Amino acid sequence: MTDRRIIVKVPASTANLGPGFDTLGMALSLYAWIEMSESASGETVIELHGDHLNGISTDKSNLIYKVAQMVFKEAGVTLPELNISMYSDIPLTRGLGSSASAIVGALVAANALVGGLLTDDKLFQMATELEGHPDNVGASLFGGIVVSAWDGSQAAKVRIEPHGDLDVLVAIPAFQLSTEKARHALPSQITMKDAVFNLGSSSLLVAALASGQLELIPFAMRDKLHQPYRAALIPGMSEILDKATDYGALGAALSGAGPTLLTLVDSKSARKAELEAFLISTLGKEGIEAQTMWLKPCSCGTVVQVLSGQEAETSSFMERIKGELGV
Ligand code: HSE
Repeated sequence: MTDRRIIVKVPASTANLGPGFDTLGMALSLYAWIEMSESASGETVIELHGDHLNGISTDKSNLIYKVAQMVFKEAGVTLPELNISMYSDIPLTRGLGSSASAIVGALVAANALVGGLLTDDKLFQMATELEGHPDNVGASLFGGIVVSAWDGSQAAKVRIEPHGDLDVLVAIPAFQLSTEKARHALPSQITMKDAVFNLGSSSLLVAALASGQLELIPFAMRDKLHQPYRAALIPGMSEILDKATDYGALGAALSGAGPTLLTLVDSKSARKAELEAFLISTLGKEGIEAQTMWLKPCSCGTVVQVLSGQEAETSSFMERIKGELGV
């Protein structure tokens, strides 16, 4: 029996950044926290805090519990009964990587609980397999901008430190869109011309982000692989993607599978209020209420606290994290 309490802070993420479908991810300054410890009572107890986790199961079908058991199995350890607590500022099913943050937080917490037996790369491989693509999980795990490829059995990645002048404005519509539905809208085939367009855009975007050439973003952050096909699911999206640069954005994209829309903005821009008003009014014209949020790319991936001995006995999970909570 270990008396260790693990608390993991895990960032939200945006996937694709326009052209990098299933390959580009960026961690964002919006977080979830997961606490995990071995249950002293011999029974699993799962507590969910805050408004963003409504409807999530608190029995052993809970994703965090199941992912933790996969880590224990992989590490050759038996820990069937756990105490798990979670709080999240990341809205569910909006394209901000909430499921990836839960998977990554669970993998990292469970691994810390068993003394870090699995490597970060092993956790990345497991997370990619669970999520079905490496973009969100890579960003949540490693932080920054993560460029990744997955061949169905092996994932590889390179992390890029985000430019200090990059700000992120998101408009989060007041409706949910499942990744499954948004992936269903995609065609099974595209033309060679569109494939070449995306290859150029995505390669240029990665090079621009890696070399800090932010002036190339407006040209590079364009996509013909998935956004045009998803546009019908998010009224107002096409206009935002077409015109955001006219209102001072460096570029605009659907965040992951949506419905959140994301713009990259130069932090020195004098036109931030104008851009925010444009996003809200464009969605508003379609009858869609949206919440806007100014975020930063998050350089850190997961941050782990290990509490043991007397330290593990004092203060509750919510008391431990309350100084850091956002919205
Ligand atoms: N790359 C994924 C997609 C992210 O666009 O479907 C959502 O999980």
